[in-house]
Amino acid sequence: MRLTKTIRKTRAQNAKNKARSKNKLLTKRFIAFAVSIVIIGGAVFRIIYIKQNELTFPVLSPPASDALYKNPSQPIEARVKDLLERMSLEEKIGQMALIDKRSLSKPQDIKDFGLGGILSGAGAKPSTNDPQNWYRMVAEMKKQSKESRLGIPIFYGIDANHGHSNVLGATIFPHSIGLGASGDAELVNKIAEATASEIKATGINWNYSPSLDAPKDIRWGRVYEAYSDDPGLNSKLGVAYINGTQGPGQSYILASAKHYLGTGSMVWGESNHKKFKIDQGKILNDEHALNNYYLPPYKAAVDAGVGSIMVGLSEWGDTRIIDNKYLITDKLKTELGFKGFVVSDWYGAYEYSGTSKYRANINTINAGLDMAMLPYEYKAFIKDVRKAVQKNEISQGRIDDAVSRILYQKFRAGLFDEKEQDPDIKIVGSIAHRQLARQAVSSSTVLLKNNEVLPLSKTNGEILIAGSGADNVGRQSGAWTVEWQGIDGNWVPGATSILQGIRQTVGNSGVQIHYNKDGAFNDRKKKADVGIAIVSEKPYAEGWGDNPSPRIDKADLETIRRLKLSSNKVIVIIISGRPLFINDEIKSWDAAVAAWLPGSEGAGIADVLFRDKSFSATLPLPWPAIESQLPINHDGATKDQSRPLFPRGYGLTTN
Ligand code: BGC
Repeated sequence: MRLTKTIRKTRAQNAKNKARSKNKLLTKRFIAFAVSIVIIGGAVFRIIYIKQNELTFPVLSPPASDALYKNPSQPIEARVKDLLERMSLEEKIGQMALIDKRSLSKPQDIKDFGLGGILSGAGAKPSTNDPQNWYRMVAEMKKQSKESRLGIPIFYGIDANHGHSNVLGATIFPHSIGLGASGDAELVNKIAEATASEIKATGINWNYSPSLDAPKDIRWGRVYEAYSDDPGLNSKLGVAYINGTQGPGQSYILASAKHYLGTGSMVWGESNHKKFKIDQGKILNDEHALNNYYLPPYKAAVDAGVGSIMVGLSEWGDTRIIDNKYLITDKLKTELGFKGFVVSDWYGAYEYSGTSKYRANINTINAGLDMAMLPYEYKAFIKDVRKAVQKNEISQGRIDDAVSRILYQKFRAGLFDEKEQDPDIKIVGSIAHRQLARQAVSSSTVLLKNNEVLPLSKTNGEILIAGSGADNVGRQSGAWTVEWQGIDGNWVPGATSILQGIRQTVGNSGVQIHYNKDGAFNDRKKKADVGIAIVSEKPYAEGWGDNPSPRIDKADLETIRRLKLSSNKVIVIIISGRPLFINDEIKSWDAAVAAWLPGSEGAGIADVLFRDKSFSATLPLPWPAIESQLPINHDGATKDQSRPLFPRGYGLTTN
């Protein structure tokens, strides 16, 4: 009995073991099967993917060394024509592609795909950020382009909108809003020339400036990139900048007026971008505003010979401006007679198109776009546009027109005839440029209120200094400085904070300066003569700076309050990219100064505080008191018809 039981048990155990090992085997087979499916599937997918992205250029022989287009003594038109006739369709489309340097799979792609332009989008810098390394990085890319079959050099673009500000060590000039406050075309012209020479020293040949935007709403995060809300002032300063950039000085750099068209007049709450409120938003389709406010600065820029114009990311009514043939071809190219090339903004050709990239490229090129800031996926762009031409969805004539415009500007900029030269690296951040920037700071600082406290004495007295912007070059420089969203702190080589500038100015005179960032001077026995609170906005760029209610932040208000306890008089200096709502607070200050975003030369502020120079700047746009006044029309009328805190053109002096 017992034996049979044991035998049964053993048999059952064996059966179990068998079943278990069978299961194991099945599992193993299944895993092996699944793994092979994944491997094979992956391989098939890879083949399809590579096939889809494969882009081969027809193999053509190089041109003769004496080809007409290579001859600098030939007229530009003849050189363009000769070169165009030698180009394959793929080479032409390659010229229409502008890509961010970070998107290059390998530098040789510039040569292999005949790319037309490379840019350093904000923050795209060499691994070590100094002028020498910028030069090396760009030189390598230029070399690749010159080794392409036809040797067509690239445009290398950058946003040097307040000096060559991506480069550590460069002079950081005041942002445009400050230059608008100076109203000084000659100064702007000199700044553009100085910036162009710093750009040239790093081998770059294209600057995405000037901005001709005209902000109607201070809640927008790009107010400071504009000179003014006044089309007349924008035209005057824009032309001065273009002339300084594109010559006739030593350094011809291609300028780009932006952001065509009407940017600054978007409606709050109507942005294309999910995270923004007004940037990249809708502009009302208004023919009167178009002809009277939006087009005039571009007419002035075109008449000044600007080589490129960047179309913005906004909508005109319900359609994107970049898709709008009426605005780009009929108005800009035909009516204004623009002969340069039209470039789109970052992802401008397709980010918000609501259609496929293929269709978006067709729409934008047919609307008049000549060079697309992709900024990635150049192979797909060339393939798509080639297909569209082959299917007659874009005419060969349109492609030829776009490429001729680009080539014309390349010849005009002398890119084909450039000789290798040692770069003038020393000019980057040179003393002469810093002096010019310092002068620009004092010319752009607006005195808003003065109850007999300014100018300050340079010979005696005691001054307390406080505030988030007092000793912070990053804050006073704002965004588009080294990084897209700016930096915090004092790590820009050669720069001077406002506190340092004041200390340098008073030197060893009898004036005593005490600094405490938070204004905590509570251990004092007696009040100081003057307290200066330097309050600041944190740097921001583009829609990240859209703000429903721009104001002085709580910490700085607290600092002002504390400073008042220890000073007889209080001066508030506002470092900001736009007017802030100060209606309630200003009443209790003895003096108020709008310093905008002055850049690397903080000593320029001391120059006006201590009257080494009188205050002369005036507001380049109205300074609103409350939100209900927004937007403020270009003629100065507020939305609720009440008076702004200060109108455009307001500014006191200390003469
Ligand atoms: C900005 C342009 C800029 C471009 C290239 C975009 O995000 O709107 O003003 O020129 O980037 O950096």
